[in-house]
Amino acid sequence: MQPRISFRPLRESDFNLMHRWLNMPHVIEWWDKTGASFNEIRSKYLPRISGDSPVSCFVIEMDNRDIGYIQTYWVSDFIKEIAQLCPQMVEQAASLVASLDVFIGEPDLLNSGLGTRAVRQFLNQVVFGKMKANSCIVTPDSSNSAAIRVYKKAGFSLEACAGPSGAFRHHYLMSCLNPAS
Ligand SMILES: CC(C)(COP(=O)(O)OP(=O)(O)OC[C@H]1O[C@@H](n2cnc3c(N)ncnc32)[C@H](O)[C@@H]1OP(=O)(O)O)[C@@H](O)C(=O)NCCC(=O)NCCS
Repeated sequence: MQPRISFRPLRESDFNLMHRWLNMPHVIEWWDKTGASFNEIRSKYLPRISGDSPVSCFVIEMDNRDIGYIQTYWVSDFIKEIAQLCPQMVEQAASLVASLDVFIGEPDLLNSGLGTRAVRQFLNQVVFGKMKANSCIVTPDSSNSAAIRVYKKAGFSLEACAGPSGAFRHHYLMSCLNPAS
């Protein structure tokens, strides 16, 4: 039987875990590039936990074992930042468009289908389920073959290069429509 995947809201007691995960080489490569100190994690994620930030954060569990992290937000809440990074996303921001970011923190669990299952289930339960988004977009680095493969398997299709210049010029814009919309 396949292990059960579930999501629980991130809490302050997860910061040590996040500190370990965000400094794993396979996460650093595609997430923050520099890693993160414990204090940086605290200042970034505390407002998200207390509801002072529009980003909703979850730990991915596999049979109650913490295995990774997934977050979601409305694109319209970050319109100024996104306009600079990825103008194509701004066009899509009007009609209940969400975005998500994900990592599997434990390196021994990579490439066993968990990332794909987590993204598919998160779309169904949270993004299209609870949030009732019309669509979801992601912007993986065009060299991040594993993430692009996962998003394709989870139902995203490639739209375009995310940004003509600047920080997102090497990123793809991928989108997935809510099947119910
Ligand atoms: C992206 C990530 C979540 C995928 O998780 P995962 O559990 O390993 O994903 P899956 O096992 O479901 O699928 C991985 C797929 O990528 C493929 N893959 C892995 N490395 C690859 C590479 N270097 N080149 C091409 N394909 C690759 C695997 O073969 C698999 O595809 P397949 O099922 O067709 O064989 C994980 O690699 C991760 O946490 N990466 C670091 C953070 C990150 O990049 N997040 C996304 C930011 S946009």
